[in-house]
Amino acid sequence: MENLIEIKNVYKTYYMGEVPTHALNGVSLNIKKGEIVVILGASGGGKTTLLNCISGLDNVTSGDIFYDGENISKYSDRKITKFRKDNLGFIFQTYNLLEHLNVYENVLVGEKLSKSKIDINKIIDTVGLRKHVKKYMHELSGGEQQRVSIARALAKNPKVMFCDEPTGALDEKTGKIVLQSLVSANEKLGTTMIIVTHNPGIALIGDRIIKMNSGKVVEEIINKKRIKPKDIPWG
Ligand SMILES: Nc1ncnc2c1ncn2[C@@H]1O[C@H](COP(=O)(O)OP(=O)(O)O)[C@@H](O)[C@H]1O
Ligand SMILES: [Mg+2]
Repeated sequence: MENLIEIKNVYKTYYMGEVPTHALNGVSLNIKKGEIVVILGASGGGKTTLLNCISGLDNVTSGDIFYDGENISKYSDRKITKFRKDNLGFIFQTYNLLEHLNVYENVLVGEKLSKSKIDINKIIDTVGLRKHVKKYMHELSGGEQQRVSIARALAKNPKVMFCDEPTGALDEKTGKIVLQSLVSANEKLGTTMIIVTHNPGIALIGDRIIKMNSGKVVEEIINKKRIKPKDIPWG
C-alpha cells in the first residue's frame, strides 16, 4: 500500500506565559491508503493535538504534513479549509447533530458539503440505521446518534476519517456497534481511518497501533490480523 499521509518531524508547542508545553515533540509517521490506524495513549499524551494537526484543524509549530506528496502545512487558512471540506471527515466523543432534523436529513447535511456524490441510502445501511431514518435525535440512543454522525461524515465520501475517542461516551455494547460501523465503512468504501482512543482493546481492530506518550510516538505495532469489534476485550 502506498502512503497517503506523511508526517515529518512535527512539533506543536503551547506557551503558558513563558513556559512551553510540547504537546507534539517530534512526531514522524506515515499513514497508508485504506489503513485503519489506532492512536493509543493516556490522557494528555498528545493524541488530540496530533489528530488536529494531521487534519489541518490546528497549525504545526514546525515540521511538515504531506497528503499525496502535497505539503498542507504550507497552505493558507483558506486553502486548508477547502482541503478539509473536500477530503476529510470527523467524528468526536460528542455527536454535534442537528436536533430538528431526522436521521436522513442529518446525513444529507454531510452530503451537501461534498463534491464527490455518494449514495446516502448505502451509507445509512453501512452504519445500520435503515430502520431509524425518520427518527429525530431525541428518539435515538447515544450509540445510534454516534452512528448518525459517522454517516454524516461518510456522506461526503472523505478520503480520511478522523475519530477522536468515538466511543468515549458509550458503554461496551453500543461502543462495539459504533466501531463496527467504522470498520464496515473502511471495508465497503475504502475510507482510511485514524482512530484515537485510550482503550487498549480497541487498538486490535486496526492494522497499525501507534502508542503516544508526552508528545512522542513511543511504539508502533503492526497488527497482522484485525479482530472484529465484537471480540474486543473492553478493558
Ligand atoms: N490549546 C491548548 N493550550 C495549551 N495547552 C494545550 C492545548 N491543547 C492541548 N494542550 C496540552 O497539550 C498536551 C496534550 O494534550 P492532548 O493532545 O489533548 O492530549 P490527549 O488527547 O492525548 O489527552 C497536554 O499537556 C495539554 O494540556
Ligand atoms: Mg484527547
